[in-house]
Amino acid sequence: MQLGRKSHCRAILMTAAGIMAALAVGPGRTVSGFRDAGPPGLPIGTTLEDFFMPGTQPDPSGAELTPIVSVFDCLLCHADFDDADPPLPLDAEPYRTWSGSMMAQATRDPVFWAALTVANQDADFGGDLCLRCHTPAGWLAGRSTPTDGLDLVHFTADFEGVTCNFCHRMVNPMYIRGESPVEDWQILDDLDIEGLVPEQPGSGRYVVDPQDRRRGPYDLGDSFPFHFWLQSPFHQESALCATCHDVSNPVYTRQGDGSYVQNDLDAPHPTMDKYDMFPIERTFGEWAESQFANGGVVFPDGRFGGALPDDIPIESCQDCHMPDQVSPGCRVPEFDDHPDMAAHFFNGGNTWVIKAVNTLYTDGDGGLNDPVFLDEPTGLTQQIIDESIARAVQMLRDASDLELSQEGNLLNVRVINFSGHKLPTGYHEGRRMWINVMFLDEAAQVVLEHGAYDFGTAELTAGDTKVYQAKFGLDAAAAAKTGLPQGQSFHFLLNNVILFDNRIPPIGFTNAGFEAVQAEPVDYTYADGQHWDDTEYRIPPGATQALVTVYYQLTSKVYIEFLRDENTTDNRGQIAYNQWVLHGKSAPVDMDSALIDLVPSIPGDLDGDGDVDIFDLLILISNWGRCAEPCPPACFADLDADCTVGILDLLALLANWG
Ligand code: HEC
Ligand code: HEC
Ligand code: HEC
Ligand code: HEC
Ligand code: HEC
Repeated sequence: MQLGRKSHCRAILMTAAGIMAALAVGPGRTVSGFRDAGPPGLPIGTTLEDFFMPGTQPDPSGAELTPIVSVFDCLLCHADFDDADPPLPLDAEPYRTWSGSMMAQATRDPVFWAALTVANQDADFGGDLCLRCHTPAGWLAGRSTPTDGLDLVHFTADFEGVTCNFCHRMVNPMYIRGESPVEDWQILDDLDIEGLVPEQPGSGRYVVDPQDRRRGPYDLGDSFPFHFWLQSPFHQESALCATCHDVSNPVYTRQGDGSYVQNDLDAPHPTMDKYDMFPIERTFGEWAESQFANGGVVFPDGRFGGALPDDIPIESCQDCHMPDQVSPGCRVPEFDDHPDMAAHFFNGGNTWVIKAVNTLYTDGDGGLNDPVFLDEPTGLTQQIIDESIARAVQMLRDASDLELSQEGNLLNVRVINFSGHKLPTGYHEGRRMWINVMFLDEAAQVVLEHGAYDFGTAELTAGDTKVYQAKFGLDAAAAAKTGLPQGQSFHFLLNNVILFDNRIPPIGFTNAGFEAVQAEPVDYTYADGQHWDDTEYRIPPGATQALVTVYYQLTSKVYIEFLRDENTTDNRGQIAYNQWVLHGKSAPVDMDSALIDLVPSIPGDLDGDGDVDIFDLLILISNWGRCAEPCPPACFADLDADCTVGILDLLALLANWG
């Protein structure tokens, strides 16, 4: 009976999906529409089984799993802190801060909807995997099929992204005797009978309390009258965030040679081990292999942790993304301050999508005739949006430091990562950081610029500077199967090879540790312990100063154009693109900026020892003919900056001999 439940449940879902497809819900959204639309070979013929994950399963009836309630059930006590008597700190208010976060808006995010369409075009039922993390309430209610999201119900928790009641009903899948609430034992035992206890966190394998018992860090006492509660140490651990912040693609299995091969379809992943799947995001893995997870890091400047004393090491995701406030957690009178009330900030690098959400859902005509973008309460106000963006910008500025130095005729730019994972981390498509260098002359005029970005066209001149990013793509086998070209691609569910990853590792990085979690640098090297990166730029003649800025951009032009052009089954790509244009084309954020006075170096003093002699001549000769296209930023020995080392450079050197 118990054992039968899972398959029974899934059978109902499959049937429902089949019927919906047959009825062709929504304009032009038939399954055959998907098949005809893509290039030959798409979509790959996956089923819900291919995206199966252990953990709590959907319960459309709500009989065994009390539905996840909407945030509206929390407002009476966990909102409007400014109206409390006396007023409470706004940053401590769960509703206000959570509303302004991308997690609250994960189901309203237009970039997500555009990517969801591509996922469904690429792999049948692929959207089920996306929806389990981007709308856990909708997924648990069985409304993730059809997987284009059109069955999600507006004005419910479905559209509240990662919502309060979901997070606060999460159960630690690892029962810890003496620590976990004893109620968890029964919950896990019931799941175990069906073989559904996740052995590892990740890919949205969550276990949810079937009853509405709200878990949190505190002991609220025996006579707490407002709702059921349980004290849960899990909620103070990164393991909770690991549930969704390690994303793997179960369609592929890792081979002995490190390649990823598509599984037999219509069956769950053969091992269910995330390290055997294709790694899409590894934020938790990166953290787990850093110093933050292994003793912590003290920041004497107190840049992370909020009210946490500066001499206490920073460890968990919560320490940085939910910094401590001094406040009660509710506006009900007579509750004392907690010294460690976790702010529900959840800010990262996203500085524009929140504005798009506000435009699409609350501007009278936000509907755009698409049933997905209906007017519905987002909790956003202009002030909440401004505050959230300001916090994200501050996170980006706290993430790294910049150090400039001069060695001979070279300027060295060092970017140091202080975040709890790679910099940048997580969702990589379209996200990047780069170095902009402006060499200035005595009149403060630009002599030479590297990494120029045009804020009007959103074009980056990338070839002459360092860009930090990951590039995923398809190998020859995946290309043959899908009919797509081999090499770099933004096809989230089809990619099976990491072509490049030079994102800067966190403090405590080791190559072996990162290989173990499939997060090693690719086509780039970092030494063990190296949590910074150096880039050298040749100082051009006439430069007396250099102004260096490190930029972060969330959504590149290439990526948003891909979403626009690749959506062939609906208009969500166009909607996302229009929002991107409307809100400033994902304007890059300046993370760090520094100015250095350059010591005039003697042209030709290539070893930087203060004179031009035989050693410099030998260096020049050994670089003879180098620096052809593409011209690197530090083209060594190229004294006249013409991108080749030749006779003119030799003459320049000889002119300064001695
Ligand atoms: C009628 C008032 C009321 C409502 C409505 C309410 N809460 Fe609470 N809740 C409280 C009070 C009071 C506390 C204690 C706050 C404190 O310790 O400062 C609390 C504490 C909590 C805690 C902390 C539990 C712990 O053990 O640390 C969580 C989590 C929580 N609430 C979640 C929710 C969620 C989610 C909702 C909506 C689905 C909600 N609450 C609705 C009054 C309420
Ligand atoms: C992504 C998961 C997540 C979501 C969504 C979330 N919370 Fe929390 N919440 C947490 C975690 C984790 C803690 C404990 C953090 C700690 O103590 O380090 C917490 C703590 C709390 C507390 C206890 C006091 C405190 O802040 O430490 C209350 C009350 C609370 N949350 C209410 C809410 C309400 C209301 C919402 C929705 C408006 C919400 N939470 C949304 C994860 C979440
Ligand atoms: C295991 C949970 C999980 C699954 C499964 C998942 N995502 Fe996400 N997604 C995330 C997290 C976490 C982030 C944020 C990471 C970051 O900001 O670096 C994210 C971010 C995104 C973003 C960036 C949004 C923006 O505003 O820039 C898009 C787009 C997206 N996901 C699409 C998808 C699609 C499409 C799928 C299915 C093919 C999917 N996701 C599956 C967890 C998940
Ligand atoms: C149910 C899955 C889920 C859980 C659990 C979860 N997240 Fe997320 N998180 C997401 C998704 C999905 C996004 C991306 C939303 C988007 O951009 O559309 C995200 C985005 C984020 C971002 C990026 C925001 C930005 O501005 O770019 C941060 C930071 C974050 N989460 C932190 C956390 C922390 C800390 C925890 C644990 C306390 C946590 N998350 C738990 C699903 C989850
Ligand atoms: C030492 C502080 C620190 C810790 C610990 C930390 N983070 Fe972050 N995180 C940051 C900073 C700073 C940023 C902004 C830089 C960036 O966006 O990459 C950030 C960004 C993010 C983003 C957005 C990435 C992007 O660019 O889209 C996500 C998602 C995220 N963190 C999740 C997590 C999760 C999950 C954990 C725990 C496993 C965690 N963080 C631990 C400091 C931290």
